[in-house]
Amino acid sequence: MSITNPPYNWPMNKTILIIGASSGIGEALARAYAHHGWQVGIAARSADKLAAIAAAFPDQIKTFVLDVTANDALDHLQHAFNTLGKVDIFVYSSGTGMANSPLDEKIELDTVAVNVTAFTRFVVAAYHYFEQKGGGQLVAFSSVASRRGDRGSPAYNASKAFESNYLEGLRKKAFRRKLNLTITDIRPGFVDTAMAQGPGLFWVAPVEKAALQIKKAIENKRAVAYITKRWFYVAKILEWLPPSLWHRL
Ligand SMILES: NC(=O)c1ccc[n+]([C@@H]2O[C@H](COP(=O)([O-])OP(=O)(O)OC[C@H]3O[C@@H](n4cnc5c(N)ncnc54)[C@H](OP(=O)(O)O)[C@@H]3O)[C@@H](O)[C@H]2O)c1
Repeated sequence: MSITNPPYNWPMNKTILIIGASSGIGEALARAYAHHGWQVGIAARSADKLAAIAAAFPDQIKTFVLDVTANDALDHLQHAFNTLGKVDIFVYSSGTGMANSPLDEKIELDTVAVNVTAFTRFVVAAYHYFEQKGGGQLVAFSSVASRRGDRGSPAYNASKAFESNYLEGLRKKAFRRKLNLTITDIRPGFVDTAMAQGPGLFWVAPVEKAALQIKKAIENKRAVAYITKRWFYVAKILEWLPPSLWHRL
């Protein structure tokens, strides 16, 4: 179903909080959930973009302006949890990834700051939130890039591998502690957003299509989901390729 169709009769008492929802996949996912009647919290740095998204769903979307790398970022997250009252699904979508063929140290460290350090702070806080609340679903966007190190942006691929591996650790922890907590690792291929630009892209999915597949994967409580689905096969090939071949590509 297209998100431009009339909404389902969805329960109005469900709430999702998406960190990194001012553009791209996070924005499309926020619009999809709002369209289906959910209460939605959206967070990012760009206050104007967040306000424009919320204006389309004034009764459902609340905005939270925050920089995930700031020292007080977790205070803003706590404020979002308090304001929304309860959160059923938490999504960490904030991410940065830039081509870095000169291997500029600042680009590498900026990538680590958002995709590793801030990611860790936010998902740890969300884990404890759900632990206290008695359950929920924690979702983050890693990438097909998590499957292999690459030369174009080494920190990006490494950060996505960190995210994927970290989520598996949380999943095992929740399982062993018998928590009613689903951990979902969304691994997109190329999706048509500001981040996915430049030569060499293929199978670039429209962002609305990606958001609907992500929403379905969340509803199905998937542990891991490739977006779009055929990227599963690319991931398997990447995992299988011997270094002697991978280094030539
Ligand atoms: N597009 C793809 O092909 C693709 C493929 C694989 C994985 N992914 C992953 O999907 C996620 C979303 O990416 P996208 O493609 O939708 O890119 P995007 O359009 O550039 O969105 C990135 C989001 O992250 C937020 N963000 C960045 N730095 C932040 C910070 N310091 N504090 C708070 N929020 C911050 C941005 O908001 P502000 O700038 O307003 O803060 C924006 O909302 C990322 O984790 C990305 O790695 C994307």
